[in-house]
Amino acid sequence: MPLPDRYCVIGNPIAHSRSPRIHTLFAQLTDQALVYERELVALDGFDAAVQQLVQTGTRGMNVTVPFKLEAAGLADSRSDRVLRAGAANTLVVGADGRIHADNTDGLGLVADIVRNAGVALAGQRVLLLGAGGAAAGALAPLLAEAPALLVVCNRTHAKAQHLVDLHADLIQGTATQLQALATDALAGPFDVVINATASSLQGAAIPVPGQLLRPGALAYDMMYGPAAEPFLQWASQHGATGRDGLGMLVEQAAEAFALWRGVRPPSQQVLAQLRRELATP
Ligand code: ATR
Repeated sequence: MPLPDRYCVIGNPIAHSRSPRIHTLFAQLTDQALVYERELVALDGFDAAVQQLVQTGTRGMNVTVPFKLEAAGLADSRSDRVLRAGAANTLVVGADGRIHADNTDGLGLVADIVRNAGVALAGQRVLLLGAGGAAAGALAPLLAEAPALLVVCNRTHAKAQHLVDLHADLIQGTATQLQALATDALAGPFDVVINATASSLQGAAIPVPGQLLRPGALAYDMMYGPAAEPFLQWASQHGATGRDGLGMLVEQAAEAFALWRGVRPPSQQVLAQLRRELATP
């Protein structure tokens, strides 16, 4: 029997990663023979580690903090999403060893909002907080849903403006408005507010006033677990429905799995399983 194909997630730190669990469940549920492992890589060792993994037969990699920019840079080819975001979270290794980079983070976010949470984005007013790697990956997939308005707001305004400029061509000829606005220029209400900042990790306050939320709005944090708690509390204090990023994590993994294996895994079933496991001490 041939050996199972090898995959991994690369990051630093990596011990906390749920990706091995998610992809192992995907493989079981779709009858795919594969091995998926964690790879802890030194901060200055990403390039060498990827080359080594390719040489020893790894067929695909998920890339996490802090290597997403480097992953986009070292690939032999890049999807349009990677070119716009400047970051990759998925590497696909061809039979010839060539590396293709994709970014499934934004697709995962949109799938979790639209399919899992049942909140349509079409025609809605959407506020994206942050302009780092996480926000960059989300912008093109969010615009593809045809919101009425997508506002990017970031502590460092110039970065939000830069992101918006990089995506401006995507709204030409559509009814979508795309803007970069400073906090004091924001005018609500917003139907959906997405937190892609690292502010909660630093114990900082939520960077915008809660009055911007329409009653019943969706307030989505790309993080999950304790890191998402401050934003979810803020959401419920202001009459919004909070949602953490666990579904985004599972859905971005599902997109990567589909790219590697050509098979779409039952992501909702795996998300439900993961929620049960996380709730069990
Ligand atoms: P990631 O890859 O997770 O997006 P990043 O590229 O370092 O990480 O981006 C972090 C984001 O969180 C940025 O938008 C950052 O704002 P700046 O561009 O002004 O740095 C935002 N951020 C971090 N700490 C913040 C805080 N205390 N308040 C508001 N925004 C914050």
